[in-house]
This record gives sequence, structure tokens and C-alpha cells, in this order.
Amino acid sequence: MPPYAFDLDRPSDREEKDDNRKRARSGIAPLQSLGQRDGRPPLHPLPIESVPGNYLGGQPLSGELQVSDTNHDSPHGFRHQPVLLERIVALFTPVPPGWLVDATVGGAGHATALLEQHPHLKVLGLDQDGDALTAAAERLRPFGDRALLHRSRFDALDDIVKELGTTPVSGVLFDLGVSSPQLDRADRGFSYQHDAPLDMRMDQRQQRSADDIVNHTGERELAGLLRAYGDERFANRIAKAIVRERPVETTGQLAEIVRDAIPAPARRTGGHPAKRTFQAIRIAVNAELDVLPQAIDAGLAVLQPGGRCAVLAYHSGEDRIVKARFRHGVTGGWKGPAHLPPPSDIHPTVRLLKAGAWTPADDEIAANRRAASARLRAVEKLAPTTADHDSTPVA
Ligand SMILES: C[S@@+](CC[C@H](N)C(=O)[O-])C[C@H]1O[C@@H](n2cnc3c(N)ncnc32)[C@H](O)[C@@H]1O
Repeated sequence: MPPYAFDLDRPSDREEKDDNRKRARSGIAPLQSLGQRDGRPPLHPLPIESVPGNYLGGQPLSGELQVSDTNHDSPHGFRHQPVLLERIVALFTPVPPGWLVDATVGGAGHATALLEQHPHLKVLGLDQDGDALTAAAERLRPFGDRALLHRSRFDALDDIVKELGTTPVSGVLFDLGVSSPQLDRADRGFSYQHDAPLDMRMDQRQQRSADDIVNHTGERELAGLLRAYGDERFANRIAKAIVRERPVETTGQLAEIVRDAIPAPARRTGGHPAKRTFQAIRIAVNAELDVLPQAIDAGLAVLQPGGRCAVLAYHSGEDRIVKARFRHGVTGGWKGPAHLPPPSDIHPTVRLLKAGAWTPADDEIAANRRAASARLRAVEKLAPTTADHDSTPVA
């Protein structure tokens, strides 16, 4: 099978159009255009800022630790169980030596295992959350100059690796969404299980918070957000109730409003009634889906041949974007029928490592509920074709 005729359980153009129709109804920019090479995200990347984490003179690696030995606790009580850890470590085994960008380093669970298991790799960890980086810095200290951290949103990934001189890279990992500590710490205002001021900012320096979305968004737009980012079928009723009850000050108050807005029989199915609303507001506050297409494209662009990019997604909106951007790389952007060869100037840049997604086994889900919705996809960068070489200007 030619590399462009792949069978990705594909995010069809129809799926993308459906997403964009939902977004258009609520005045949100379409996703498809954001993923195009020349597309720009609606928000400008935050400035690059270093945080301590570039520790020199670390101890030599033992290289003997098993993944299961990895300690998930951090000295700061930052507890996050990394999802599909062994699969992710295995995916990066064959990559060339060099830098791996962990674009969502969080508490450095994946990063620690990757550094322990792969002496040929160094890790550049990015995160926009200052608390996560403090925990990651502590955890990665033993790896000395094999670990480097930057506080940044991940759509600035290409600028950062260029600025740090770590390009081209051997791997890129995205483990999307929130970490357990973000959800568990009441003061971060992410959770319907704690009563706290409405916040939900991953980057505490950011202006926009959940309070802005909940108290200052029009009813129609609010309903659109709940539908587009939370797949919430009672979006209209919930938006109406929120607008009626404003000002809403705390997560507890919001959870109660949502619960009361949902018909009683529906409250008993599908987990906590406020789950989807909280997810949708969190995604909106952090512009999570808006920045993702550009970030994945940037990740693929900075890979060296043989380098790999893996993305862990936790809900369908994220996963559709991952499939679309990987598909774009696998087809070289060719949108014609899969059985026809693309024009000679179109070249695939990556190959899929699996047609579908890896998902966690039952025992992992039993041990870590957060893993239940995880879907992992991965691609490998191809060597440039002769035609690509030919088009490189000679200085
Ligand atoms: C699921 S956690 C990652 C956990 C990590 N893999 C580990 O093993 O500890 C996701 C992390 O990504 C960060 N994050 C989410 N979106 C981001 C973005 N656009 N830019 C930078 N960091 C982001 C969050 O702050 C959070 O710390």
C-alpha cells in the first residue's frame, strides 16, 4: 500500500465540518483553518520564559530502572499517574539519539521514565503551569543536563527548540488535558468536586479565567461552547440557567446550577452531571483545541527523520484534531481519492505507526480512572524525498 493510501480510522472531512458547524453556531473560529500551514491561532503564543530545570553536573544514569519502578510522587505532593507509560517508552526506543520534547511535561512522570529507559535521549519539558514545572524540576534534577524545562504554551514549540538550538528533535510527546493535581487542588478551581473560586487557568499568569467565561459570555455562545467542547446535549438549558443565576462565584455553585438544569432521569447516567460543562469551560478558558493543530504541525516539522511524535488525547474533540493533523502529514496534504497517486509535488512527511489508536488495558483503567478515555496515536518522520532535496536552494 502506498504511504498516502492509509487506513487511519480517519477524522473524516464530515467530522471536521460537524465540529466547525458547532463552533460557527457559537461564533468560535473553525478548527480546520487553524491547522493549515499558513493559518494562525486566534491567540498569540505567550512569551518564552525559562524556569530552573537546566541542571548541570547530574549523576550518571543507571539505565537499569524498570518502568514499574518509577515513583509517581513528587517532593511537592504532585501526584499524577502517567497514562500508557510502557507503550510510550517503547514507542521512543528506536528513535535517533537527541532531544525529545515533552510538550506537556506536567509532573514529569513520562519524562522520568523516558530518561531512565533511554540513555540516548535528553528531554526538553514544556508546560504552561508553574506548579507543574516546579514539581518537574525537582523530579528531573537527578538527570542533570539531560533535562531542560521551559514555561510556555506548546504552540510555541518550534520557536523554543530553535531558540535553544535543540532542533531537529528525536521525539515529541503530547499528553493532553489536565493533570490530576490541577483537578485535585481545590484552589485551582477546575473541579466540580471542590468548592472554590471559578478559575481553571493552567497558566496562572493568564488573564481569562472560568469566571470570565461563566459570567461574561452571552447565553447563545455559552450554549455553543458547552456543545462544542463538552458534547453536552442539555447545553441550552444549562446556559439559560447559568445566565439566570449570575453572578456565579464558585465551582460548587456552578455544579449545583448545572445539576438542577439537567432533567432528573438524565442526572443518573454518564457520571457527575456537571462533568461535561466543567470540561467545556476548562477547554475554552485555556484555548485547548484552538492551539492544538498548530502545535502538532510544529511538532512534526521539527522532527528529524526517524524521529517520532506521540499524542495522548482524552476526548473526541482532541482526538479528531490529532487524526486530522497526522492524516495531513501522512498524505502530504493530498485531499484527492486515496486510490489515486498524489501529484508529484506532494509528499508524505510521516508514516503512521498504527492505523488506529492504542488504548489502556482494563487493569490500567482499574488502577487509574483517568486513563479510561485515553487514545494514543503516533507517527514517524520520513526522510525527505529526492525532490525535496532538489528544491532546497543551494547557497
Ligand atoms: C496530562 S498532564 C501531563 C502529565 C505528564 N505527562 C506526566 O506524566 O506527569 C498535561 C499537562 O499539560 C499542560 N498543558 C496543557 N495544555 C498545554 C499547552 N497548551 N501548553 C503547555 N502545557 C499545557 C498542563 O498544564 C498539564 O500540566
